[in-house]
Amino acid sequence: MAPENPASPTRKPWPPGPSVPRRILDGSLFAIDSPAFYKQNAAHFGDVVSFRTPNGFRQFQFNDPKRIEDMLVRDAPHHLRGVVLRRARGILGDGLLTSEEPLHLRQRRLAAPAFHRTRIAGYGREIVRLTQEMTAAWPTSGGIEAHAEMVRLTLRITSRCLLGSDVHASIQTFVDSMATFNDYLPFALLPGAAFLERFPIGPMPGMKRALKALDDLIFGIIAQRRASGILGDDLLGMLMEATDESGQMNDRQVRDEALTILLAGHETTANALTFCLWLAAKHTTHQQHLAEVIKDVCGDRPPEAADFPNLKPLEMFFAESMRLYPPAWVVARTATQDYTMRTGEFIPKGAHLIASQLVVHHDERWWPNPTHFDPLRFTDEAKATRPKFAYFPFGGGARYCIGEGFAWTEGVLMLATVLQHHRLTLPDPTQQTVPITPKFTIRPTREVPILVEPRAH
Ligand code: HEM
Repeated sequence: MAPENPASPTRKPWPPGPSVPRRILDGSLFAIDSPAFYKQNAAHFGDVVSFRTPNGFRQFQFNDPKRIEDMLVRDAPHHLRGVVLRRARGILGDGLLTSEEPLHLRQRRLAAPAFHRTRIAGYGREIVRLTQEMTAAWPTSGGIEAHAEMVRLTLRITSRCLLGSDVHASIQTFVDSMATFNDYLPFALLPGAAFLERFPIGPMPGMKRALKALDDLIFGIIAQRRASGILGDDLLGMLMEATDESGQMNDRQVRDEALTILLAGHETTANALTFCLWLAAKHTTHQQHLAEVIKDVCGDRPPEAADFPNLKPLEMFFAESMRLYPPAWVVARTATQDYTMRTGEFIPKGAHLIASQLVVHHDERWWPNPTHFDPLRFTDEAKATRPKFAYFPFGGGARYCIGEGFAWTEGVLMLATVLQHHRLTLPDPTQQTVPITPKFTIRPTREVPILVEPRAH
C-alpha cells in the first residue's frame, strides 16, 4: 500500500479530489472503472485530481495535455503498467501489452519490422480483400449488425496479416472469450482479487475455460507453422525464429505475443470501425462526400494502401470518430518510486496514475461543442492549434500502440471499400448516440443495426 502523504514540512497537500464520504453518498466509491466518475472529477476538480481508492492506494487523474504527456513520456521511467494490465497478465502472459522492461523493449524491437510502413501495402490488399468478402455476404438491401461484422473482420485481418492464418472457423471462441474477459474486469479490480482468483468462484471457472480454448487455438497455429517446415517472414515467423542470450523463444513466449496481438489488434479496432460505420450511417451528407472522394481517387477499382494519402477526408472522419468514441478510454500506470512531477505534484511510490481519452477528447477547451461530430477538426491547420496530448487514442511514449499505422490503414481502407458500393443508413435516424459500455475497451452496449443498400452515386 502507498504511504499516505508522509509528513514533510516542504510537501504540498494532495491535489483536490472527491472525498470518501462524498463518494459513498453519490455511489461512486467503487466506480473507479467508470467514465462518468472521471468526467465528474474533471468537471469538479480541474486538471489534476487525487483521491484514495477503496483498497487504499493514492490515485491521480490527469486531465490536461501537458501532465498527460509527462505521465506517458517524461516520467515513464518511474512507472509500471497500471492495475488492469497487470491483472491481464493472467490472460496474456508476458506479451507486449503486459510485459515490463527490459523484456518489453526486446520484444518490441523484435515485433517492430512486422509493423513497418513497407509492410502496409501487403496488409492493405488483405484488408480490402477480406472487407469485400464481408460485403459480398451482406443482403443486397437490408440490415447488418455492424459490431458482429467488425469483430469478425478485424479478427480475420489481424490473424491473416500477422499470424498467416485465417481464424474464420474459430471466431465464436474469440467472441466468447472476450465476453468472459470483459466480465472478469470488475472482479479483477476488487480488493484482494489476486488472492480470490485462486478459487473456483465468480468468473474464474469461465476464465479457465476461455483461456484453455484460446491456448488450444494459438498453440495449434504455432504447431502447424512448425510442421510446415517454413517459418515465413510474418510476425509469427519472426517470433518463432527469434533467439536471445537464453536461446530460442519457447512456444509459451510465442503464444503470449501472438495472443496479445490477436486480442489487442482486433478488440479496439473492431469497436473503432463499428462507431465509424454508425457515424457514417448517421451523417449521410458526410457519407456522400466520402463516397465522392473515393470515386475520384479509385474510380471503380478496389482501393489500395497507396491511395491512403489521397483519402485524407476518410482519415479525418476516422479520427473524429475515435475522438467521440475512443476505443481505448483510459491509460493507467503505477509509480515505482516517489518522485515530483515538473508541475509540482508529489507522486508516492505505489500511486495509481490515469488519464482518460474519454474525458480529454470531450474537453471544451480543445474541442468546442464536444458532442458535435465534425471531421474538420482534423485538418492540418486545426490540428496545429491543439496541444499534442489533447488527442491520444493510441497512447504515447515508449508504450504507444505498436499497431497504430495498421489501425489507420484498416479504418481508411475498410471505410473506402464499404462506401465505394454501399449506402448506409440507420433504422432509427433519430438515435443520437451509440450507447457504450466501458470495459477493457469502450464497446457498444447493444447490437448496432445498420441498413445497407447498393450505392447509385
Ligand atoms: C483503433 C485501434 C486501436 C486503438 C485505439 C489502440 C489503442 C492502444 C493504446 C491506447 C495503447 C497504449 C496502452 C498504454 O499505454 O497503456 C495500445 C497499445 C498496444 N496496442 Fe493498440 N490500439 C489499436 C489497434 C491495435 C492493433 C491493430 C494492434 C496490433 C495489430 C495493437 C496492438 C497493441 C499492442 C501490442 C500494444 C502494446 C504496446 C507496448 O506496450 O509496447 N493495437 N493500443
